[in-house]
Amino acid sequence: MSNILDKFDLHGRTALITGGAGLLGRQFSLALAQAGANVLVADLNRKIAESFSFSLREQGLRAEGVAVDVTNPDSTRAMVQAAREIFGGLDILVNSAALDPKFDPANLSSQGANAFEDYALDAWRQALDVNLTGMFLASQAAVQPMLAAGRGVIINISSIYGIAGPDQRLYERPDGSRQYKPVYYSVTKAGVLGFTRYLAAYYAGKNIRVNALTPGGVFNGHDETFTEQYSSRAILGRMANIDEISAAMLFLCSDASSYMTGSNLVVDGGWTAW
Ligand SMILES: NC(=O)c1ccc[n+]([C@@H]2O[C@H](COP(=O)([O-])OP(=O)(O)OC[C@H]3O[C@@H](n4cnc5c(N)ncnc54)[C@H](O)[C@@H]3O)[C@@H](O)[C@H]2O)c1
Repeated sequence: MSNILDKFDLHGRTALITGGAGLLGRQFSLALAQAGANVLVADLNRKIAESFSFSLREQGLRAEGVAVDVTNPDSTRAMVQAAREIFGGLDILVNSAALDPKFDPANLSSQGANAFEDYALDAWRQALDVNLTGMFLASQAAVQPMLAAGRGVIINISSIYGIAGPDQRLYERPDGSRQYKPVYYSVTKAGVLGFTRYLAAYYAGKNIRVNALTPGGVFNGHDETFTEQYSSRAILGRMANIDEISAAMLFLCSDASSYMTGSNLVVDGGWTAW
């Protein structure tokens, strides 16, 4: 008799995670490796991709790290080729790489004011390149082995700001200074949802499922003011813990979600329901 937990088992599958060296990217890589997948951690930051995959191997998991620039088609093709050479194929692509402006203490000072009125055209173009074109290129490369194998799963990471506009009051500082969540973030994360529906529909009948995962804000040492203001907007009254998005990722990547495609799984503590 089959057991429901068997549907979450990823043994024998290979997963490639772009942005795999990121805050959530590392959690996704860990979760899929723990579920039995061979995991290729792909990131612009080669050093972290390699050191993180090394740490996964030290835990007895199967993982390798590679460098990729998702805005470069040669680079995304080489990334997929690496998955084929190292693990013999590619079953799962997680598009997690993104420019994601963060407001935790480690990143606060690197965020400009981001006012819309004088937001730089170069920065806008660069963000569209990474957050949307990057997803397009990585998916274009990844579907080749998936079509050849007759099965595949693609997960695209969106954000609550792809569903609802950012409440810019959250980014006011106690000292009266203020920053804004930049315009590109909402635009690209909304685009991710359209891209997901397009690709799911395009591959009708090909056994390639494409879904989006939409996380809410993940706590990463944010200051008290931000944390309190953010939390008051979530039905569950808090930010997500770092490990609270990965179970949804595993669900979407595995046969547990075999009747889902073209959909968006929102894990946001109720932020967008209020
Ligand atoms: N952390 C959150 O609170 C949160 C909330 C909602 C949605 N998200 C989304 O989840 C995904 C993962 O978030 P995260 O917290 O891991 O972000 P992160 O900023 O920590 O990681 C992003 C990763 O993408 C990589 N990257 C950037 N440009 C690249 C390029 N050109 N080629 C390849 N890699 C590149 C970076 O090196 C980095 O490791 C992102 O799409 C983000 O927008 C995050």
